[in-house]
Amino acid sequence: MPFGKSGKKTSGGENNVKLREHWSGRLAFVLAASGSAVGLGNLWKFPYITWQNGGGLFVLFYLLCIVLVGLPIMISEITIGKMTQKDPVGAFRALGGNHTPFRFVGLLGVLSGFVVLSYYSVVAGWSIEYSIKSLSNDFSKIPQAQVTQLLNKEENRKKLAAAAFNEALKKPVPDERKAQMLSDAGLLENINAGGPVINKVFSENRDDLSQELQKNNRLEYYRNLFLNERKNAENYNTWQNEKLMPAYSTGMFVEFITDPVRTMSWHTVFMILSIVIVIGGIKGGIEKAVRFFMPILFILMIIMVVNSLMLDKEQEGVRFLLKGDSSKFTPKSVLDALGHAFFTLSLGLGAIMTYGSYLNKKDDAIVNSLWVTGMDTGIAFLATLMIFPIIFVYGLEPAGGGLGILFTTLPLELMKFPTGQLLTVLFYVLVFLAAFTSGISLLEVVVTYLVDEKGLSRFKATLIAGAAVYIAGVPSAIDTGSFLDYADKTATGIMLPLGGLFIALFAGWRIKTGLLKDEFIKHGYPMWSFNLFRFSIKFLTPTLVTVVFIYTVYSYI
Ligand code: PHE
Repeated sequence: MPFGKSGKKTSGGENNVKLREHWSGRLAFVLAASGSAVGLGNLWKFPYITWQNGGGLFVLFYLLCIVLVGLPIMISEITIGKMTQKDPVGAFRALGGNHTPFRFVGLLGVLSGFVVLSYYSVVAGWSIEYSIKSLSNDFSKIPQAQVTQLLNKEENRKKLAAAAFNEALKKPVPDERKAQMLSDAGLLENINAGGPVINKVFSENRDDLSQELQKNNRLEYYRNLFLNERKNAENYNTWQNEKLMPAYSTGMFVEFITDPVRTMSWHTVFMILSIVIVIGGIKGGIEKAVRFFMPILFILMIIMVVNSLMLDKEQEGVRFLLKGDSSKFTPKSVLDALGHAFFTLSLGLGAIMTYGSYLNKKDDAIVNSLWVTGMDTGIAFLATLMIFPIIFVYGLEPAGGGLGILFTTLPLELMKFPTGQLLTVLFYVLVFLAAFTSGISLLEVVVTYLVDEKGLSRFKATLIAGAAVYIAGVPSAIDTGSFLDYADKTATGIMLPLGGLFIALFAGWRIKTGLLKDEFIKHGYPMWSFNLFRFSIKFLTPTLVTVVFIYTVYSYI
């Protein structure tokens, strides 16, 4: 090791301790750490899984996970960072001894930060594209001329025809039409067969028929089916809203994410912006950014929520959140809640530990943890109140439910408001800010590591880390479909829970109990709160996380 026992590393370390910047106060830390926690996880994933799992009971269970699993790890991460004043690798080494195997947990964290940022940046870039799209009013009604253009695309034709087909099946279909469909699809030899035969073949082949209709050689057929459907639509506007616009919007999204020039451009812009902020350091960069952006984020959030609540006259959103449908709560809901608790609180990779390392040693880790956890949970709830009325309650559950909802269904629903364009712009700026303040924290993990462990200057470290993450993000930007999903699944399903598990084991079993106890006692917290914390971090958290981890790995392979 070049700097093994020599003085270089140690003196570098000492210098870093001496020169280490600190947040200017509790507000700065809370804003930065909440900025990290509040992200796409809150705006998109939480409302989505809450809906899927039936609200009510799920929400209660989620809160339990936040308090019993999230909060103890948050307290541990902040305390470890603060006590050691070091990056995750250095922190584990400082508390566990130079050769502790736990230093690999720090390394895993740095690597996770690297991986998460590489695709997070790509998705954040989409929100920039969409802010601009909404500024130029791309989501207003499609003019007639564009309908023809739209129909020239094979993919759109197929999608519309499939939609029309399914729609048609909801109404009673005359026997001759069924016979025609079956014969066109090559599923019926004698088109004049009697009604009972036709009906039997039809019901037996419904799925095949639908699939057959999606094959390439039936394009003319789709076209006619589609045009017929349009002719039959009682109200052209309703038809346009319900069929054409979703296809148009989806087409627009697919076109964008499969255009590497545009996705790469926004990935580039996002990474440059993050680099600029992180180069400025804690006080001069991150703190300034969060002091400016977080209040805007809160205000935007409130505007959107008020707007949704006004739409939701029956308060269905609130009711669903509180009462919901407990029959949808299954064993998988338990895993969803627990897995999400990690991601949403930015735990398991040392992001919060890194931010914690810029706190003063005398700062109170517990109250800071409570603030950050509370803010994140509050924003997640507000997000459901914002999204439910817009998408789920009125627009009904969108197919697939992936990240695409934010970019396909949502803008259309927002456009139904009189102030639609403005709301859409505000919404994408909100998504961007949430992702940006999370992205910054991810870059900071890697940068702090390079500064503390490798002795680089912040300037150099940020450029190197930024450039490396930028390059690592290229496959996600280019191959959005599979690579991005794969990176996300690996990082959030495996790397973060694994990191969280080891952090809990380290805090519960490896560090001297006195250290964490002191943190509680020194700041006047009652003994029971420490005991509860100790029980969770020693037993509850590791057990629960192990269960989730095994399940995830099992469903992964
Ligand atoms: N907490 C962020 C979100 O909810 C994601 C994130 C995870 C950010 C880990 C930093 C570290 O979207």
